Amino acid sequence: MATLEIGGIDCKRLAEISGTPLLIYDEAKIEEQLAAATENFQSQRFETEVVYAAKAFSCKAIFEKVRQAGAGLDVVSGGELYCAHQAGMPMEKVYFHGNNKSEEELRMALELGCGTVVLDNDMECRKLARLAEELKKPIQVLLRVNPGIEAHTHEYIRTSGSDSKFGISIAKKNEIKALVNIAMLSDYVQFKGFHSHIGSQITEAAAFEEALAIMLGFIREMRDGYNISTKHLSIGGGFGIRYTADDKPIPLGEMAEILARTCERLLDEKGVRLEKLLIEPGRSIVGEAGYSLYKVGFSKDTDTKHFLFVDGGMSDNIRPALYQADYSCDIANRLGEAKNKTYCIAGKNCESGDILIKEAKLPDTACEGDLLVMYATGAYGYSMASNYNRAGRPEVIFVKDGKARRVLKRESYEDQLRLEADEPLSL
Ligand code: LLP
Repeated sequence: MATLEIGGIDCKRLAEISGTPLLIYDEAKIEEQLAAATENFQSQRFETEVVYAAKAFSCKAIFEKVRQAGAGLDVVSGGELYCAHQAGMPMEKVYFHGNNKSEEELRMALELGCGTVVLDNDMECRKLARLAEELKKPIQVLLRVNPGIEAHTHEYIRTSGSDSKFGISIAKKNEIKALVNIAMLSDYVQFKGFHSHIGSQITEAAAFEEALAIMLGFIREMRDGYNISTKHLSIGGGFGIRYTADDKPIPLGEMAEILARTCERLLDEKGVRLEKLLIEPGRSIVGEAGYSLYKVGFSKDTDTKHFLFVDGGMSDNIRPALYQADYSCDIANRLGEAKNKTYCIAGKNCESGDILIKEAKLPDTACEGDLLVMYATGAYGYSMASNYNRAGRPEVIFVKDGKARRVLKRESYEDQLRLEADEPLSL
């Protein structure tokens, strides 16, 4: 009976040392994905930049890997910005996104020397210009526009329809012109170009190629009709990964190569130029590198189901409950045994919807004390984790070449009480 090894280490040993639920990252896989993106996203015609979307998974250790790979970082909150700064990320490579950044957050971005703010609307542009002048801090900006593509993915993670809360519709050219003018009038705000993001877990290149064609056509119209010159274009992230055998995503390196070549071809077709093209992968950098390790507890049979209960659930991975996301799994200590029984893998959170995998084929010997591994949980698992039912966030470890290191400690009961207070407010 074989046991799963990750980074050359037996999972049983990792569970013994660190306990469960445990999130394990295969560091080499993260490095491979960062290299696949940066090495294949290249052009002789324009600069390129790969910007890691921190929302997929953020901590100092992952930012360190991003920095080492020479990639940039996409942050969407003061918290991510702060963590990036604390991790020693070169701030000029940080892109600050979000549809409702607060004044404090914008101020913080300027003070920390954040390179680029990705503007969402004209109110934000005015506020940023005012703050940049007050603080005498220069800042580059991109404007997020909405190319109106409905990518084939779950509706919650589709972002680019014309009613999206993000960005300005590219049909609203006068509004866009007015916003760019606000930026141009400021001595501190430097307008660089446009940003678009069409959705997430998109497995084919076609939607991105379409977005590129629309965006480059739009850039030409803004040049010819509105005298706006665009230097940079980001086409966002959203590159899909393999959660189950049904997913057949284009590998990230190939996708990056296709996008660089498509952009070169479209520049000629549309008769425009670009100084720089950017992509913002999040999920595809960390998703498949992550393994969630749970301990199997009780089990129960109903008339139609065989439940296996694990010691985590929607508090550490809300994706199945929120998006009906599918995952695959194994009993990590029973690899090689015939998978001859269908189980329903349920978590321990107090909610009927706390089902991690509806139907999982596993050996019929699966029992209390076994280790269940869920694959490809590295993106949007930990970063969307909660303390629902006062569950502590799991420990996170990085493994590579037979060595392991803890990068995030398990959240203890005391940790959860650290925000408790009983303080009168002076009114
Ligand atoms: N850039 C922008 C502007 C984004 O909004 C996003 C993701 C990304 C890049 C990175 O997308 P990725 O390469 O990771 O697909 N919680 C959802 C996904 C939400 C994605 C939000 N924006 C999930 O668990 O599927």
